[in-house]
Amino acid sequence: MKALEAKDRIEKLRDELNVHNYKYYVLAQPTISDLEYDKLMEELVGLEQSFPEYYDPNSPSQRVGGEVTKSFPNVRHTYPMLSLGNTYSKEELTEFDKRVAKGLKTNYEYVCELKFDGVAIGLSYENHRFARGVTRGDGVQGDDVSNNIKTIRSIPLVINHKEALPTFEVRGEVFMPHKSFLHLNKQKEAQSEALFANPRNAAAGSLKLQDSSQVAKRRLDCYIYGLLSDGLPFKTHWESLEALQNWGFKVCKYRKKCSDINEVFDFINEMEMVRARLPFDIDGVVIKVNAYAQQTALGYTSKFPRWAISYKFKAERGYTRLLDVLYQVGRTGAVTPVAVLEPVLIAGSTVQRASLYNAGKMAELDLHYNDMVYVEKGGDIIPKIVETDAAKRPDSARAINFITHCPECNTPLRKKEGEAVNYCPNTSTCPPQIQGRIEHFISRRAMDIDSLGQGKTELLIRNKKINNIADLYDLRYDDLIGLEKVITDPDTGKQRKISFRDKTVQNILQAIEASKKVPFERVMYALGIRHLGETMAKKLARHFESIDRLMDATFDDLISVDEVGEKMAGSIQDYFDNFEHIQILERLRKAGLNFSVEKERDSGVSKVLSNKSFVVSGVFSNYSRDEIKALITEHGGEIKSSISSKTSFVVAGDQMGPEKRKKAESLNIPILTEEELEGMIY
Ligand code: IVH
Repeated sequence: MKALEAKDRIEKLRDELNVHNYKYYVLAQPTISDLEYDKLMEELVGLEQSFPEYYDPNSPSQRVGGEVTKSFPNVRHTYPMLSLGNTYSKEELTEFDKRVAKGLKTNYEYVCELKFDGVAIGLSYENHRFARGVTRGDGVQGDDVSNNIKTIRSIPLVINHKEALPTFEVRGEVFMPHKSFLHLNKQKEAQSEALFANPRNAAAGSLKLQDSSQVAKRRLDCYIYGLLSDGLPFKTHWESLEALQNWGFKVCKYRKKCSDINEVFDFINEMEMVRARLPFDIDGVVIKVNAYAQQTALGYTSKFPRWAISYKFKAERGYTRLLDVLYQVGRTGAVTPVAVLEPVLIAGSTVQRASLYNAGKMAELDLHYNDMVYVEKGGDIIPKIVETDAAKRPDSARAINFITHCPECNTPLRKKEGEAVNYCPNTSTCPPQIQGRIEHFISRRAMDIDSLGQGKTELLIRNKKINNIADLYDLRYDDLIGLEKVITDPDTGKQRKISFRDKTVQNILQAIEASKKVPFERVMYALGIRHLGETMAKKLARHFESIDRLMDATFDDLISVDEVGEKMAGSIQDYFDNFEHIQILERLRKAGLNFSVEKERDSGVSKVLSNKSFVVSGVFSNYSRDEIKALITEHGGEIKSSISSKTSFVVAGDQMGPEKRKKAESLNIPILTEEELEGMIY
C-alpha cells in the first residue's frame, strides 16, 4: 500500500473506531459485534506499524496502553480544583439553601447530580484533542496521568462535534465499576495478593500504576460533571452538561433541575433507592446553583464554593450481638481477628462475620463477649464493627483480648516494631503457613503448577510427602501413585474422592518439570516473601538480575530501588537471614529453577525505526539527549545533526531552538515528544 493511501485508510479506521467506541462505552448501544470491532482495530494497528510516520498519540489503538511512566510529572491546574462542603442531614441542607437565598435575593435553580465515589480528574482538550489528564493533588497542582487516562474508553480522545469548543477543560470522576472491581479482587485473591478494600481505592491505585497496559486491564470508567473554559458560551451548568453529552462525553443520566429545596429532597430520596441498583458506587448527591452568574455572585469561602454542596448518604449500619472472635493464620504467618456475629441484614445481605483488622483496632473497640455492636457495610467489601454499645454491657462481661499464641501451632506470637500485625514466627511447621506458601508457590501467576490444586497439596502435606516448596522437586512417581482422600466441597457440602492415578501423577510431574522454565521474576514472586507482590518481585528481579546479587544487597541498596520502602527491605533481609530459607533456595537452585535473568537482551531488540532519520533537539525530562539518541539507534534509527527535507522526525524536548522548530514545521516534518518516541518503540 502506498503511503498516502495508508494515511487515508488509517484516518478512516480511526474515525470509525472512535464512533464504535462511543456507541459501546458511552451509549452502551453497540452497533457492531466485538469480532468486527477487533478486526478494524487489528487492521489499524497493522497499518500504524507499517507506517509509523502517521503515529498519533490519540489514536484509538493507544487505548490498550503500553506506555510506562516512571514518575508522573506534577503540573499546575489551569483552574484550581476545589472540593465541596459536606452535609449529612436534611436540616444542614436547608441551612445551605437559606444561605444561598440570602446571598442571591432573587429566584434561582439547582442542578442535582450523583456524587460519584472515585477519584477527581481534570481533562484538558486542545484543538479538539485530548491533551492531558491531571489528578486533583492539592487542588493547585496534581499528577499528569494522561497515559493511564487514555485507557479509559468512555473518555473521548478526539472531539468531532461541529459546535464543540476547541480548547477547554472538563472535570469528572474516574471510578471502577462493580464488575471490574469484583474481577480485579478475584484475580488478586487467586494470586494471594492483598485485596482492595473498595472500588474507590482500586480506582486510585490503578490511576497510579506505572504501566498503562496494566491500567487498561482494570476497566476504569469516568463520568464528567463540569466544563471550564475562558469565555464559556453557556449561561448555566445544565447547558454545559447537555453540551458535554453532545460532544461525546459520558454524563450521568441521573441529574435533575430543581426549582426549590423540596425538589432537591425528592431527588435525594429517589437516589437513595436507585443507589442499590447502580453498577458503581456513589456516596451522596451534589447540589449546585445552576446559573453561572449566580455562582460567581455567591463566590467561595476559603475552602469551598458557596454555590454547591454535597449531601452524603449514611453508611448502612446493622446492630447485632458479637458472639466470638476467631483468628485466621495466613501464609506469611499474619494473624487476623474476625468477629463472629449473630446474623444481621445490612444493605440487602446477611452479615455474620466482620473484619477486626488487627490487635490495635480490636483494642480500640474494647470488645467484650456478647457485646451489642454496630456493623457497617460502607464502600468496603468486608463489613466492619464500627462501635460497641458499652451501655448495654453487663458488669460481669468478660473482655476479649487478642491471643498470645498461634491458634494453629501454639507458638508465641510476635509483632514487628512499627507494624500492626501479630504473626506466628513458626514458618517451618505451622500448618496453614506451610499450605499457604505451597499454594502460593504453585499458583498460576507464580510457578503455574496447575495440576496440583488445593485438595491435592493438602493431601500431599497430610501424607508427609511435602513440607516445603523444595520438596515438590523431589517427588517421584512412586511417592504419588495411589494416594487417595475424600474431601468435602466447602461450597456444595458434597463429598468427593480424589485419588492419584497414572494420568494424574504424570500430569503433576510434568507440570513440576515445566515450572523449571519459569522466568526469574516469577520465581521471585513465588517464594512468597512478605510484602513482595508480583510487581515488586518483577522490579527487584530486573534490578538485581540474580538472586545472589539480591541476597548480597545491603538495606541501603534495597531502599534505593524505586518504590522499595523500609518495610519491604526489612522483610527481604529477614527472608534471606533465615537459614531454613537458604537451604530451600539451594535445593531449588539444584533442581534447576531460574535464579537469574537470562541474558537475551541484545538479541530480541526490535528494529522498528530502521530506514528513518531523526534530529534530536532540546532538553528532555526522562532521558538525557544522549540516551534519546542511543534509544533511536538501538532500534535501528539514524541520527542526523540538522533538519532537511529527508529528515523523518524531529524529537523535541523543552527549549528546542525556535529556528529549528520553524524549519521542521515549514518542511512538514512531524515533531515528536519523548513520550511519542517511546510510543513508536514500545
Ligand atoms: S463538583 C467546585 N460534582 O466530590 C465543585 N464533584 O468534595 C467541585 N464528586 O473532589 C466538584 N461527584 O471528586 C462535583 N457530581 C459531582 C461529583 C463530585 C463526585 C467528587 C469530586 C470532588 C469531591 C468534592
